[in-house]
Amino acid sequence: MSTDRQTLLVTGGAGFIGANFVRQRLAQRSDERIVVLDALTYAGNRRNLAGIDPDRCEFVHGDIRDTALVERLLREHGIRTLVHFAAESHVDRSISGPDAFIDANVIGTHSLLKAARTVWLSGSGVPHRFHHVSTDEVYGSLGPHDPPFEETNQYQPNSPYSASKAASDHLVRAYHHTFHLEVTTTNCSNNYGPFQFPEKLIPLMLVNCLHGRPLPIYGDGMNIRDWLHVDDHCRGITLALEKGRPGEVYNIGGENERPNIEIVQRITGAIDAAFAADPSLAPRFPSSPAADGRGCWSLVTYVKDRPGHDRRYAIDPRKAQSELGYRPHETFETGLAKTVAWYLANEPWWRAVMDGSYRDWLEHQYAGR
Ligand code: NAD
Ligand code: TYD
Repeated sequence: MSTDRQTLLVTGGAGFIGANFVRQRLAQRSDERIVVLDALTYAGNRRNLAGIDPDRCEFVHGDIRDTALVERLLREHGIRTLVHFAAESHVDRSISGPDAFIDANVIGTHSLLKAARTVWLSGSGVPHRFHHVSTDEVYGSLGPHDPPFEETNQYQPNSPYSASKAASDHLVRAYHHTFHLEVTTTNCSNNYGPFQFPEKLIPLMLVNCLHGRPLPIYGDGMNIRDWLHVDDHCRGITLALEKGRPGEVYNIGGENERPNIEIVQRITGAIDAAFAADPSLAPRFPSSPAADGRGCWSLVTYVKDRPGHDRRYAIDPRKAQSELGYRPHETFETGLAKTVAWYLANEPWWRAVMDGSYRDWLEHQYAGR
């Protein structure tokens, strides 16, 4: 198929990774337009798309479960490429309320597949691509000496989040196998970078350092994740659209395994260093222990572990490397430094997205820990 289509449909484009993908893609392809379909849940925010030329990016406030709406968008804009990010994405929320994950991730993905099948495969069909964005968490948890996840690993999802993503991956696969919908799937490791909602580990720790709030470490802090800068994930998705074979799955990761405690050490060190280098930060964030020289590590608080907490994730990216030519551009050092600088420079963004209802949820979340 050709991916040089005029207009892409990006679901969940007002969320963290979707918004970064929209920005990167529009910067790289001056001939392309994007329609973003997003329900603007607590995690979706129009601010994430601020400054983008409205002639090149149309925002549609709607739900992926609205199959008729999706069919209409595909037809009206002559869309042949759909990149599917929309999801409920936070493991802790899937533990406190799994239903929303089944609705968005399973029913929502199926709704998109139905719409794509109706519009793209009716009659003689048209060239097309349905790209599904998924997670390494579908493969379950690794032991300390296990090899990283390959695409052929057995699915063993452990949380309601990963189970709902696994179900969506299977539906995407089935629509290819049964109906010949041209699909690709990428399963990616933990992302970090600009516009990430401050409930995930890295932005939560950053923002809490600045507020002088506790840094909650689940369990012993030795759970391992394979961290990747969001720009590198988005590059991998574009490569999968260009070079990926229909029906194939590609694992994308940074070969960058770190225990959580190391992530927190690096963040507290980076914030302390930023305050030491820039005297304007202390008056902006007077509650931060970095403001009076105590250091942010003093905020570390070990809390009760997450139920069913997966011990280790790690991606084997060799298939994406050899078939797609995938290579991350950022090291963890460069990516984290850029991310810390972005959160320091974009205080109005994170203050605006952390509204009252979110803070209530967070307090409820840690009440029992
Ligand atoms: P996010 O929670 O930041 O954003 C999700 C977006 O989807 C939000 O804008 C939300 O409003 C929208 N959305 C949710 N339900 C919707 C619905 N029913 N209809 C329309 N829009 C809806 O998530 P993210 O971190 O950007 O993740 C994007 C995708 O990447 C997800 O599918 C996730 O599973 C996957 N993924 C995330 C990571 C990560 O580290 N964040 C890693 C690998 C894969
Ligand atoms: P998270 O960012 O929620 O991503 P995921 O659960 O999808 O990997 O969490 C990353 C790791 O950090 C995970 O092992 C849980 C841990 N964690 C904490 O220790 N404290 C926190 O406050 C959060 C949000 C996560």
